[in-house]
Amino acid sequence: MLEVAGLEVRYGAVRAVRGASLAVGDGELVALLGANGAGKSSTLRAIAGALRPAAGSIRLDGQEVLGTSPERMVRLGAAMVPETRDVFPDLTVGENLRLGAFTRRGDAQGVAADRERMLAMFPVLRERQDQPAGTLSGGEQQMLVIARAMMSRPRLLLLDEPSLGLAPTIVQRIFAMIVELRRAGLTILLVEQNAAQALAIADRAYVMRQGEIAASGPAAEIAAATDLQQLYLGG
Ligand SMILES: Nc1ncnc2c1ncn2[C@@H]1O[C@H](COP(=O)(O)OP(=O)(O)O)[C@@H](O)[C@H]1O
Ligand SMILES: [Mg+2]
Repeated sequence: MLEVAGLEVRYGAVRAVRGASLAVGDGELVALLGANGAGKSSTLRAIAGALRPAAGSIRLDGQEVLGTSPERMVRLGAAMVPETRDVFPDLTVGENLRLGAFTRRGDAQGVAADRERMLAMFPVLRERQDQPAGTLSGGEQQMLVIARAMMSRPRLLLLDEPSLGLAPTIVQRIFAMIVELRRAGLTILLVEQNAAQALAIADRAYVMRQGEIAASGPAAEIAAATDLQQLYLGG
């Protein structure tokens, strides 16, 4: 479904991503691991169209999409949940969800059905439907941004550090939801610093180090061959 080759991302003189190549097959859950600053978010943002890479190729369903706008990427079926977890704080939970369906304005019935599906999957969001999103806890906001991304009916979900800064019990729930979404047929590229937990649910993994893909393989092999502690430390 997704094929990235020779990706280069630069911020002025900083080469954040250096010739990274990776692929995600239909229905796969693939983890992209690495220490802080390794280039994970830059890779994800390039795929989502949120920044323009200096070089490389990004193919979605075989079609070159490098340089495509984020909105068009959503229309093509690839939605990103950025690590910044940016809800619209003054809008209600329900309004935030509706905005996630911006690509489907003519489909009120389908949008309502999907909203219902998301509220069933995230009961805490149903309880807080009429509450401003800014009043939610960090874990609830993470659930909301995932649910909001799902409102565009993506085939590929790009998740950037969904566990960041959350308490262990909440992290468990977020990971359980990722597994559930995947079971429902979604293809997922999961960026995580929380390597052990990501490897426990992923099919395959890539390890980034200083902008390059340093290792890749089946999740179990990466877990066995990699010093996971070193991933956090950047070694
Ligand atoms: N907007 C930016 N401007 C300048 N440098 C940036 C910017 N965003 C990221 N970087 C740099 O690019 C490198 C990779 O960052 P990032 O992709 O955010 O890594 P990760 O998500 O793995 O922590 C880091 O050295 C970081 O400091
Ligand atoms: Mg990041």
